[in-house]
Amino acid sequence: MANAYQKSFENMNEEIRQAREAYERYLNTGRPNEKEKAIYHYNRAKEAAQFCHDNGPTLLRDGFRKLIRRIDNRLDELKAKSAPPKTWEAPPRRPGGAVPLNQALESVPEDLRAIIEGTIVEGMQSVSLDEIAGLEDAKRALEEAVKLPLVRPDLFTGARFGWKGVLLFGPPGCGKTLLARAVAGDSSANFFNVSSAELVSKWLGEGEKIAKEVFRLAREAQPSIIFFDEVDAIARKRSTDEHDAVQRMKTILMQEMSGLNSQKEDLVIVIGATNIPWEIDAAFRRRFEKRIYIPLPDQPARREIFKIHTKGVELDSTVNFDELAKISEGYSGADISVICREALMAPIRELRDQGKINDPNSKPRPVSGRDFANAFAKIKPSVSKEDIEKHLVWAAEFKSV
Ligand SMILES: Nc1ncnc2c1ncn2[C@@H]1O[C@H](COP(=O)(O)OP(=O)(O)O)[C@@H](O)[C@H]1O
Ligand SMILES: [Mg+2]
Repeated sequence: MANAYQKSFENMNEEIRQAREAYERYLNTGRPNEKEKAIYHYNRAKEAAQFCHDNGPTLLRDGFRKLIRRIDNRLDELKAKSAPPKTWEAPPRRPGGAVPLNQALESVPEDLRAIIEGTIVEGMQSVSLDEIAGLEDAKRALEEAVKLPLVRPDLFTGARFGWKGVLLFGPPGCGKTLLARAVAGDSSANFFNVSSAELVSKWLGEGEKIAKEVFRLAREAQPSIIFFDEVDAIARKRSTDEHDAVQRMKTILMQEMSGLNSQKEDLVIVIGATNIPWEIDAAFRRRFEKRIYIPLPDQPARREIFKIHTKGVELDSTVNFDELAKISEGYSGADISVICREALMAPIRELRDQGKINDPNSKPRPVSGRDFANAFAKIKPSVSKEDIEKHLVWAAEFKSV
């Protein structure tokens, strides 16, 4: 019991730490998802504190009881806050400049507002940079391109101004979307997550209007980052059978991106991601001035990815991360995550085959090296050599870091 208490105690501290951080972020930004996170972690902290109260040293009981009461108060306070306490953290850089995002949103027509609020403003689940293996150069380049100008706008005046368009390109499944999600979590800027494919398909009729509104909001409530995932869906070279609406979207995106370039003082950055950069129209390519290659993971990065994707599951001593990293040459991050999922399932499948899956006392055996070997036999790299070559050729010509 002493051990379980110790664990709960540590757990509780960690949950409280995370809850506080989310709470702080909520106060600073007013983002509802931070509120949800804070509530979630406070609830977990409360459970752990209750366990400590029930099972820990008698001497500390009173302390835990008080702590639980404090958590309850904080939870009540959080739940009562329906409207954000402060406005979105958009430091008004220039006098008379930025307005808070939720204020800017008020002027958006009702029907568009639901889409923009629901999926573009709040549609991004953030990840932390440590959950992304390798890609050190890309992380640094993004920091320079995106974070610095937002954090230290005073450094970017006169002839020194930040990048307005950043393109992440590379084979699928190597961390482009992941990096954008990290940027979203890491920055105090408003983050607009636009799925280019949805703009031209699901919302086709409204796509133009949505795109226009997003740029307007981003400018009004700057600093802002607008992320166009799979940007090739819009920025593709012109084809003959193209829908009119797609062409109009293209025109808008082009105009807006040119606008950003001419208003250098504005703190609005567009990040695009694509698996097929060679399909992107030259005019768009020019507007994405900073082009960052996100390659297949190298051996040390693969080792990290195996670690990230097996976290919290028991492995036996036959699992050798160095070996896994070595034999996974050519696999993307996404491929490795599939390998891990497959290998981690093996002990569960065994339980099921032994008919023990419904027995609550049955425990799966640790995952072994052999489970990984079997997974490798089933799952092959999803990116072809030719594709990598195409990227390398394009990168040699057009990448900028
Ligand atoms: N560098 C990486 N570190 C950790 N996981 C990764 C990495 N790259 C890819 N993955 C895994 O692959 C999945 C897909 O990556 P994603 O960023 O969506 O790829 P894309 O480059 O196609 O946008 C991620 O959700 C993650 O599980
Ligand atoms: Mg992606």
